[in-house]
Amino acid sequence: MTDTTSKKTGGGAEIAPPKGKLGVLLVGLGAVSTTFVAGVEAIRRGLAQPIGSLTQMASIRLGKRTENRNPKIKDFVPLANLDDLVFGAWDIFEENAYEAAVHAGVLERSLLDELKPALSKLKPMPAAFDQHYVKRLNGTHIKKADNKLELAQQLIADIENFKKKNKCTRLVMVWCASTEVFLQPGNTHATVKNLEKAMKANHPSIAPSMLYAYAALKCGVPFANGAPNLTVDLPAIQQLAQEMNVPICGKDFKTGQTFMKTLIAPGLKSRMLGLSGWYSTNILGNRDGEVLDDPESFKTKEESKLSVLEYILQPELYPELYKDFSHVVRINYYPPRGDNKEGWDNIDIVGWLGYPMQIKVNFLCRDSILAAPLVLDLALFLDLAQRVGMKGIQEWLSFYFKSPMTAPELYPEHDIFIQLMKLKNTLRDLRGEELITHLGKEYYD
Ligand SMILES: NC(=O)c1ccc[n+]([C@@H]2O[C@H](COP(=O)([O-])OP(=O)(O)OC[C@H]3O[C@@H](n4cnc5c(N)ncnc54)[C@H](O)[C@@H]3O)[C@@H](O)[C@H]2O)c1
Repeated sequence: MTDTTSKKTGGGAEIAPPKGKLGVLLVGLGAVSTTFVAGVEAIRRGLAQPIGSLTQMASIRLGKRTENRNPKIKDFVPLANLDDLVFGAWDIFEENAYEAAVHAGVLERSLLDELKPALSKLKPMPAAFDQHYVKRLNGTHIKKADNKLELAQQLIADIENFKKKNKCTRLVMVWCASTEVFLQPGNTHATVKNLEKAMKANHPSIAPSMLYAYAALKCGVPFANGAPNLTVDLPAIQQLAQEMNVPICGKDFKTGQTFMKTLIAPGLKSRMLGLSGWYSTNILGNRDGEVLDDPESFKTKEESKLSVLEYILQPELYPELYKDFSHVVRINYYPPRGDNKEGWDNIDIVGWLGYPMQIKVNFLCRDSILAAPLVLDLALFLDLAQRVGMKGIQEWLSFYFKSPMTAPELYPEHDIFIQLMKLKNTLRDLRGEELITHLGKEYYD
């Protein structure tokens, strides 16, 4: 009874075809990256299904409901084929993708052994790393240089060599490395010139993640930020993306608990149910959990996790329902659980006449199993955006992030259903199809 079509857009966009190999450069070859690469290798061989991936599994409705046009997204927009993906990575440890995947302990050993020949070939390049920014890690496979600008230049050389060696026509880069300590944007991040000057002066406000983003954009390579680090949020990096005509997106993959929040909170708000508190806690035992056990890295993550409810519930519009609700987020490092995170949420809600009620959520999830399909979708959609000529912040990819990037004057949209509609309408727009508004009047005329 809801939907309809409206607003015919132009004839769609010119989209260069996805010819040749697409190189996917992963910063960090840990749990998420190896689960992603091993997953693609397994899917290519017909050993598993790409569950959780919109680009591989979702369909998109076109036109009126009576038209029954529901192509798969991958048949509707020209995306790179999984067989055309090649992988590269950097890490501070020398382990190849097979060893790193065994270490991460996410996927069954029997599957990894079957994929061993392909996974062993993926050997990480030495990383641009500084322990000051990730206190709990101490790696040996790292680049040496006199200053941070030189480190970035070494990354640029890596990118160019990878592209040539693997005969790629296009590249994308996805940050799947650790969460760095909390940093505030400042003058050194204000312009590209300032950034380069600060890199040369080894300024402490320049974290390694910024060097990767800088290197990617300098090479015309789209960049997605899977962690809550500032990285592509900086004005200097956004300026560079504009200048180089490169799409960027971030930040922090929306996977477990925050994914649940963005499902539940819009529902509560849709029924005008109040909220007095939301307490979230997690136990996690992988390397990510270990890194987040450091208060400085946790602060970066906490910022990213906390903002979600405020934006969805809009307490300034609904003070009687949402003013001053208490929101607490905890992550506890608990080694026995490995990658199998357990999240508990206690939600104190308020109903008719102010009567309190409670919702308890116990999510026994697998962090990297939830994150891997997001890496795939982001790689394919960023490559699509690049071929369309979309540059700068890609707000239509908010769907994938805990802290979605937007134009400076906008607040981020966190409601996952609005995010999905925006994503699909962007694809419809690219193809010159009508946008779906869910009005539906014409069915009753
Ligand atoms: N899994 C999820 O559901 C999820 C959700 C949101 C965000 N994230 C973020 O994604 C990132 C990856 O998560 P993970 O579980 O794979 O962590 P992980 O610790 O298993 O892997 C991260 C890897 O990055 C490497 N690394 C750290 N600094 C580096 C640098 N400067 N250059 C190159 N490599 C570097 C580490 O050595 C490690 O191997 C983390 O920042 C995490 O917070 C994960």
